[in-house]
Amino acid sequence: MQTGKKLKDFTKFYKSMNIQSNDFYKVPNIKFDIFRLKADLEKILVKKKFNSLGIKNFGAISLNQIPGDQKSIEGHNVRGTYWTLPDESGEEAKRDISIDESKYTELVSDFHNTYFEEVYNTLRKNFKLGRVRILLKEPRSTLSWHRDPEPRLHIPIITNPGCRMVIEDIAKHMPADGTVTITNNKKYHNFFNGGEQARIHLVACVLDSPFEKND
Ligand SMILES: [Fe+2]
Repeated sequence: MQTGKKLKDFTKFYKSMNIQSNDFYKVPNIKFDIFRLKADLEKILVKKKFNSLGIKNFGAISLNQIPGDQKSIEGHNVRGTYWTLPDESGEEAKRDISIDESKYTELVSDFHNTYFEEVYNTLRKNFKLGRVRILLKEPRSTLSWHRDPEPRLHIPIITNPGCRMVIEDIAKHMPADGTVTITNNKKYHNFFNGGEQARIHLVACVLDSPFEKND
């Protein structure tokens, strides 16, 4: 009887763990050339600086924009709406501006004829994307505990063993090996870089969620 109960509890526990683990969806059959990504990132960083908006521990470079609209990648358009739990009351607060993600369909000209163009076109063929950005996570830094309006696709370019994405109670390291992971950012999450080197990911908003069943 006792064994049966334990087994039932374990199965329940395993199932809940499994559902949470599925909040990190490793995309099968797509792998990019990490060496070309690193080389072209270096070239881009000579030309462009991360836009920090003056916010601590935030930095972004937009890869795509609303066609012909330079303003769509300026100011708070590089950030966008999220919800957070700022204090002990546990009350949720909405931050920043809403973005019409589906309008972001044009590659920013600085990325023309780079490997990023190839990556962008491959991703667009396979997923319904919103904004695509190169996101910086500074050494020994973290985000707020927050949720986003949609899942995110990650291609780590520079990372270190102290980097973790945390979704609810599950933390995972995403390696910089050219693989693609979609994370369920509609659940509360965080990212921390506990290393002493900057972390840089290509991050895209995904408008056709693979997590609908879990939402
Ligand atoms: Fe997020």
